[in-house]
Amino acid sequence: MRRPAIAGNWKMYKTRAETLAFFRTFLPLIEGTKHCDIVVAPPFTAICAAVEAVRGTKVAVSGQDLHWQAEGAFTGEVSGKMLAESGCTYVIVGHSERRQYFGETDESVQRKTKAALESNLTPIVCVGESLAEREANQTEAVLKRQFECGLGALTAEEFSRILIAYEPVWAIGTGRTATPEIAAEAHRYIRGLAAAHFTHEQASVLRILYGGSVKPDNIKGLMAQAEIDGALVGGASLDAKSFAEIVNY
Ligand code: 13P
Repeated sequence: MRRPAIAGNWKMYKTRAETLAFFRTFLPLIEGTKHCDIVVAPPFTAICAAVEAVRGTKVAVSGQDLHWQAEGAFTGEVSGKMLAESGCTYVIVGHSERRQYFGETDESVQRKTKAALESNLTPIVCVGESLAEREANQTEAVLKRQFECGLGALTAEEFSRILIAYEPVWAIGTGRTATPEIAAEAHRYIRGLAAAHFTHEQASVLRILYGGSVKPDNIKGLMAQAEIDGALVGGASLDAKSFAEIVNY
């Protein structure tokens, strides 16, 4: 049985003060929640405030990106070692916005995933096709390329420590959620890739989250799919009450 994980990706939203205000409302709402892992990914500048706020609770803090080197002359970058020292236990890797706007490639995803694991962070590795790719029937080819080039070189032990997030680009921030069936079909395909590259057993314990316009009113339907092991939530994770509703689906 795979334990569900619900993660909030705040993207470039929330100051330190807004982060503290979020947790003041959010933490009491999830105090009794036991059925899933809860992760919040604030922007770098609010990580320390988030770590302080969640201390002693079951909420984990995640980075949204990292550099693959531990340190160096890379202006503007943050390493896995720095995230771990700040109290993060997860990091998002290869988000489609990084791929689309900041030149992230399958190759950099692979290096970042390895670097995250070296720093003992749990990487949440994002994959997913664009609208044009889906319409051109390229979904499986894109997922296969992203999986093989981004994750194919991991050792079995490394692979056992990652989460994958399937985020179809056409569903992100558009209000256009993939139906639970469409999402489950992609998840099944990704799990098949994992079985082919690693082992059936490893594939069967791999957690695959769905991301793209997840809201309080569609989370139940998504989580009813056996293939969907959780969610990576953008917009709806910014509001403490709506994120708590999603966590407590
Ligand atoms: P939305 O939930 O705002 O569509 O964003 C999804 C996402 O990109 C999470 O990483």
